[in-house]
Amino acid sequence: MASQKLALPYKTVINGPLKPGKGIIIQGVVNTDAYRMDFNLRHRFGIAFHYNPRFDENKVVCNTWAGQWNTEYSPAGMPFKKGQPFEVAINCTSYGYDIQVNGEQVSSFQHRFLQLDEIDVLDIRGDLQLTSIAQC
Ligand code: GAL
Repeated sequence: MASQKLALPYKTVINGPLKPGKGIIIQGVVNTDAYRMDFNLRHRFGIAFHYNPRFDENKVVCNTWAGQWNTEYSPAGMPFKKGQPFEVAINCTSYGYDIQVNGEQVSSFQHRFLQLDEIDVLDIRGDLQLTSIAQC
């Protein structure tokens, strides 16, 4: 049976609290004509982690939002390809977030929003097909 697609924008509650050791694994397929994809970990007042692969700029932008965007951070490389399946693992650590794409560590992002237990929503949108979400 073909895997069922999850509708976008996709929002789900993070089985919390978010804390070091918790991970979220997202599987999907990049649209063939993709522009950007947004993976957001949200709290009531903003975004604690915005992970934003940009095909138009051939890079990934990481940031936080709290009334306005903070300083962008772009890890080296662009691990996503248009039209290709992917797996993104976001692992919360005491330092921040470790990101693995297709099993390879691609970036770390230091915590800026420190009340981890208030980060309760995963929000995914943009130019992708979403296949599965797992939390561990
Ligand atoms: C903006 C963009 C937002 C977000 C932000 C991150 O330019 O419109 O979607 O990606 O950058 O800093």
